[in-house]
Amino acid sequence: MHSFSDLSALFNERFSEKQFPATPENLYQATDYFLQIGGKRIRPVLCLLGNELFDEIRPDAWSAATAIELFHNFTLIHDDIMDKAPLRRGVQTVHTRFGDNTALLAGDVMMIQAYHWLSKVSGSYQTSLLQLFNRTATEVCEGQQLDMDFETRVEVAHDEYLNMIKLKTSVLLACALQMGAIIGGAGQRNQELVYSFGLQLGLAFQVQDDYLDAFGDPEKFGKQVGGDILANKKTFLLIHALQCASEKDKQTLLLLLRSNPADKVEKVLAIYKNCGVDQWALSLKQQLLDKALENLEQVAVLSARKVPLRELASYLIQREV
Ligand code: IPE
Ligand code: IPE
Ligand code: MG
Ligand code: MG
Ligand code: MG
Repeated sequence: MHSFSDLSALFNERFSEKQFPATPENLYQATDYFLQIGGKRIRPVLCLLGNELFDEIRPDAWSAATAIELFHNFTLIHDDIMDKAPLRRGVQTVHTRFGDNTALLAGDVMMIQAYHWLSKVSGSYQTSLLQLFNRTATEVCEGQQLDMDFETRVEVAHDEYLNMIKLKTSVLLACALQMGAIIGGAGQRNQELVYSFGLQLGLAFQVQDDYLDAFGDPEKFGKQVGGDILANKKTFLLIHALQCASEKDKQTLLLLLRSNPADKVEKVLAIYKNCGVDQWALSLKQQLLDKALENLEQVAVLSARKVPLRELASYLIQREV
């Protein structure tokens, strides 16, 4: 059995081998730049742990893990264009450094390279993996569209927010786990439980991401703190504040959503703090984590095999990066 940190080190070793050719230099310097600046490698590790829950890690799990991390990196590059984000992983985003057109292509070739890795896995379950991967990739696009649609809407219900983050974020974590489970030989019921564990965990993970976007330490976070506020993203923080703020704060918030004063982030953060968003975030994350763990507990394997996934789950909702 491996821990998250063991597997992320092992994965990084393999992943740092060159994924792309040397030319055209302007394209592949952008892909190489992004793949070398790190990232937590959560999704490939989830795939490997999904396999290891049921059996020793098989070579195909490394291929599936590589495909998933490449797909994730593609989504980040395109997401940063959509979100107009200047920073990622503590450095300039790909489009800021290389321009939008190259960033689009760098993302595209990563997605194509993801399919290259999936084409290597054993024929006995390749179709299942591809169906799952394709459905997931489509859902991520749908979630990203909803995320942008919500920018121009004032009221977004909590359930709509949960559905949007499920699509843009959770399904990929769930897919990573289920792919690993399929490769590890899990039966249908266990695959479903592992997938549900990933879905709930992904929701808790995105809640933490949204929390850090507002309250993260700029030195550690690696992204622009306040980016979601500037883009009028309908995060749970904003939804909660619109419901729970005093009438005066609510009117100020609604005004801030329609304007872009220089101190917008500061003002919104003050309102978030006034309505005790910290406590709310904590209870929401805990609720989602509990649901996630309930599913993991039901997976029909020895409890000791679940330890690394339990540890990873609690790290994910407390992380600062
Ligand atoms: C960022 O994911 C995008 C979200 C879905 C919140 P990560 O926080 O896993 O990004 P990296 O790969 O570690 O940089
Ligand atoms: C990103 O959500 C989800 C995907 C990339 C599909 P965010 O926009 O919140 O992710 P960050 O905060 O930029 O990493
Ligand atoms: Mg973003
Ligand atoms: Mg986004
Ligand atoms: Mg975010």
